[in-house]
Amino acid sequence: MKDQFPILQRKVNGKPLIYLDNAATTQKPQCVIDAMNDYYCNNNSNVHRAVHTLAGEATEAYEECRRLLKSRYNADRVIITSGTTESINLVAHAWARPNLVAGDVIVLSEMEHHSDIVPWQILAKSIAVELRFIPLKDGKLDLEAYKIALDGAKLVCITQTSNVLGTRNPVRSIIELAKEVDAKVLLDSAQAVPHEEIDFKELGADFMAFSAHKMCGPTGIGALLVKPETFNEMDVFMGGGDMIEKVTLAGTTFQTNEHKFEAGTPKIAEGVGWAAALKWFAKIDLASHHKRILNLARITSDYLSKKGMKIHSPLHDGDGAIVSFNHPNIHPEDFARLLDAQGIAVRTGHHCAQPLMERLGVSGTIRASFYIYNDETDVRAFISGVDRVLEVLE
Ligand code: ALA
Repeated sequence: MKDQFPILQRKVNGKPLIYLDNAATTQKPQCVIDAMNDYYCNNNSNVHRAVHTLAGEATEAYEECRRLLKSRYNADRVIITSGTTESINLVAHAWARPNLVAGDVIVLSEMEHHSDIVPWQILAKSIAVELRFIPLKDGKLDLEAYKIALDGAKLVCITQTSNVLGTRNPVRSIIELAKEVDAKVLLDSAQAVPHEEIDFKELGADFMAFSAHKMCGPTGIGALLVKPETFNEMDVFMGGGDMIEKVTLAGTTFQTNEHKFEAGTPKIAEGVGWAAALKWFAKIDLASHHKRILNLARITSDYLSKKGMKIHSPLHDGDGAIVSFNHPNIHPEDFARLLDAQGIAVRTGHHCAQPLMERLGVSGTIRASFYIYNDETDVRAFISGVDRVLEVLE
């Protein structure tokens, strides 16, 4: 599969690139790059506006992305956003702000990415909702604490798969329990969507947020899937072109479909690129790739553990193929710089999850995250890269 990804053919610091920073962003296959290039060379135009040929072609190519998302995830309402972060902020502004009042409870967890903490803190400051955080127990959400936190809850916002630990949360139980108290559920699925097939309708969440760039699509585009009943409770957020039905100086009426939440010229080339990625994805057996790369992550983790590293990722079946670890003495950045010198890309730092770092008792970790194009060669290169780091720094 690697031969379909031009960037994976390059060298970094004179060594073949070993790309293990996939939880941050994934690489793009040639067909996605070609689709975007072809769009700019042949069809570039604004969408939903003019009647000329290019405008029709661009509109069709862009809307194909939404159609593919609807069918892939079995969702009736797909709002195109700039990514997971905007999708979550949209829920805060367009659903939570008009529907919640002071004292209402929003349940979050200690393993959320900042993009699923900060929007709620901003909201809490403005309308005095109460935020409750489900604690972790042995690297997993404490479901007993969750049941208690649900008292008075109107909204539950949970990551489906942790970007730091790879832990896959039991979202079915989380949704069922939330429904018992009539709370809405928002899933941050940024790290889940690249690794598993999801039927949004069947899962029963109200909102699901994710980004294209973590599943071989372009940066700058993502989606918010919304259950139709919940969609009808959303109020306009950003005003501007394309989201209106009629504007007079006295006031405005709005579109009733997803465009109501997509003011301004959308991410057209990115939509075209994402559509190409989704078509490419449709031919991939995600489940078997996921099983394979989880195994690669486990081999990596076992080796690191033998070498005295503290491993934070549980790597249970279904978890993300992510190995987060710390050396007892070597600073994560020093570790990663020496890996980079050998062409190996990993992420270090707090991974936009500072509360989780606090819970783990570290300021940051080293994170090797695998994706469908990674193979045994990458594991071997990583292991010998680690050996070299230890030789130099221990
Ligand atoms: N959220 C991305 C990560 O975990 C950027 O690295």
